[in-house]
Amino acid sequence: YRTLRVALLGAGAVGSQVADLLLKHGDELADRAGAKLELAGIAVRDVDAKRDADLPRELFTTDAETLIVGSDIVIELMGGIEPARTQVLHAIASGADVVTANKALLATHGSEVFEAADQVGAEVYYEAAAAGAIPIIRPLRDSLAGDRVVRIMGIVNGTTNYILDRMDTEGADFADVLAQAQALGYAEADPTADVEGYDAAQKAAILASLAFHTTVPLDAVHREGITSVDAAMIESARHAGYVIKLLAVCERLAAEDGGTESISVRVYPALVERTHPLASVHGANNAVFVQAEAAGDLMFYGAGAGGVQTASAVLGDVVSAARRHIAGGVGVGESTRANLPAVPIGRVITRY
Ligand code: HSE
Repeated sequence: YRTLRVALLGAGAVGSQVADLLLKHGDELADRAGAKLELAGIAVRDVDAKRDADLPRELFTTDAETLIVGSDIVIELMGGIEPARTQVLHAIASGADVVTANKALLATHGSEVFEAADQVGAEVYYEAAAAGAIPIIRPLRDSLAGDRVVRIMGIVNGTTNYILDRMDTEGADFADVLAQAQALGYAEADPTADVEGYDAAQKAAILASLAFHTTVPLDAVHREGITSVDAAMIESARHAGYVIKLLAVCERLAAEDGGTESISVRVYPALVERTHPLASVHGANNAVFVQAEAAGDLMFYGAGAGGVQTASAVLGDVVSAARRHIAGGVGVGESTRANLPAVPIGRVITRY
């Protein structure tokens, strides 16, 4: 096999598992990818920090910039906007394909990143940027490309689903369950991103952009978190036959009076009927319920957070990137995203 050089940026909950699986399953992945995937190095801020996996020390470096040069595939799992944005653009300019789970970066600078990639014929893979291990990016981008998505209702944040579920099923206290979600590695470094709905809003912007073939800016996403949800609200919802879930709703709105169609993207604690499939999503799991004109209702379900689970989606992207390299850079999916006009977005807030 030809050897492809893989650079990993970040060794947190997801990054350390990606490195571990890449080293453990190297031969099997090589067979699937048609190329040997050589982990050239792991760029981190602190070489001596404690990791979730036991990784060879000689792989670690603090010099991301040098590691990137000459790499075929760069996996960015640092999170946050900077220095992730600079390093991703550097990777693209150096001729690498990029695999990233960085929802914050894509929701705020996605157009810049995709345009930079298109200019040099590189590809950006981001299956892990929304709903963790659940395959949802490719289904929206590729499998449903021939259909018209009408609505997405997603539970796309594991931490808040874990908190609401424990409050609902055990009457648990908000602060206690949040601490547990952090200890289990579901929560973001700053859990405000989870409980105030910022994380879900970033994922909603990414999913809506794919579903409606446009660019949905993050500031067009209406956002409410779950900090105002208390035990009494959960109790009265239950009596009325509902469960409270933090939903990301992305909807196509019909044109009015000869105008153009618009879309509405919003994240809020919603009342979900207990008989709806989304009501049975427990713990830190996620689910994305997609309604398309021809396909009808589809539901994608699974682990939405967690290091090793999310690593599965990252490695799938690494194999796809490797196959593309071996096939001579024949791209997939470019036409579905860059340089598309923005659709007017209605800020309609309704209860599900
Ligand atoms: N903090 C995120 C969540 C991790 O709870 O869903 C996955 O993006």
